[in-house]
Amino acid sequence: MAAAAVLPASSPGKSTSVPLIVEPKVTHVLGNEEFDPKKHLTFQEPSKIYTMNDIGFPDSNGISPVAVSEPFQLFSEEAVMRMRKEVLSDEVMTNCKYSSNIAHCQLRGFANKYAPFTYDLWKHPDTLAIISKIAGIDLVTEMDLEIAHINLSIKSEEEQHQEMDAFNERAQYEADEGIAGCPWEDDTPIVGWHRDSYPFVCVTMLSDCTNMIGGETALRTGNGDIMKVRGPQMGCAVVMQGRYIEHQALRALGTTERITMVTSFRPRCPKMRDDTVLTTVRPISNLQELYHQFSEYRLEILEERIRQQLKDLREATSSGRRIPTKKLKAFLEEQERFLRHMNNEMVDEENVVMGVQVECHPVEVKEGSKAKKRPRGE
Ligand SMILES: [Fe+2]
Repeated sequence: MAAAAVLPASSPGKSTSVPLIVEPKVTHVLGNEEFDPKKHLTFQEPSKIYTMNDIGFPDSNGISPVAVSEPFQLFSEEAVMRMRKEVLSDEVMTNCKYSSNIAHCQLRGFANKYAPFTYDLWKHPDTLAIISKIAGIDLVTEMDLEIAHINLSIKSEEEQHQEMDAFNERAQYEADEGIAGCPWEDDTPIVGWHRDSYPFVCVTMLSDCTNMIGGETALRTGNGDIMKVRGPQMGCAVVMQGRYIEHQALRALGTTERITMVTSFRPRCPKMRDDTVLTTVRPISNLQELYHQFSEYRLEILEERIRQQLKDLREATSSGRRIPTKKLKAFLEEQERFLRHMNNEMVDEENVVMGVQVECHPVEVKEGSKAKKRPRGE
């Protein structure tokens, strides 16, 4: 997830402005029935899925060989509009809104309280199967708190026009100088280089981006080059293993409204490593909820691992086999690390400065790294 410096809704930094949101035109009257995968999922395979190997890393770089997908169609127009209706409801805007100098408006922790359609959509086995297939590993949603995190960016038409004027002026200059033909190379990112807190992320676009320029995600490859992945169009999504790849979100021009929905995932199998950290989300979360959900799922993982270990021990004893002491000690050491990691992530509440987090896992830019341009439309 692209996290930013944000302030909790109850803080003095709470934004009091009302976002100017213009609903996209819809071709159908919205229903209000429950999520139906046959109706609301319109999945089409991504044109390309880049592996860790493709971008210069060994497959062992993460929990899966998959690095990132190209944008792919995922949700019907009705599903998008139903999610928008829930996300932009008065209850969510009033109770779940965070703002900052970088991210004017983020909405968090609302899905299991105020957005039943959105919640069901992300928890449904068919949706999880699609995300898992692209990710190359069986995934579940990270925690309820991280279902459908919203980044909301609204500009006035005047601001939009000013940006486009600046862009056109620069394009004209570049044409005059004979350097036209390059993609928009505004290197001012929304969020600096970072890795996410969670293993996998699915970013879905809920706005009409027909006229959008920019808005890509830049990735740093294994040899230090920079690769850009296109941002998704409305109803489309991108899946990325953001915990293990340095990346940054680039600015988008040409739209008054940009609403992205970010849902995070972790491996389903309790035996898999879980490198989840809370660095990027601690200062922008209700800590009671965050620590409860984090400790609950981690303890469930531990419970399952111990259950399996006990079974193995009992079977060894009942069949008269030797207890594999080395293996048992390795298991215990792994669980010690697992618990220590978990304990470290649950920073005492009095030591968490809410709303103060300039960057998440910042990574130094290597000397001499250069942007690698990809052909348009690739
Ligand atoms: Fe991110």
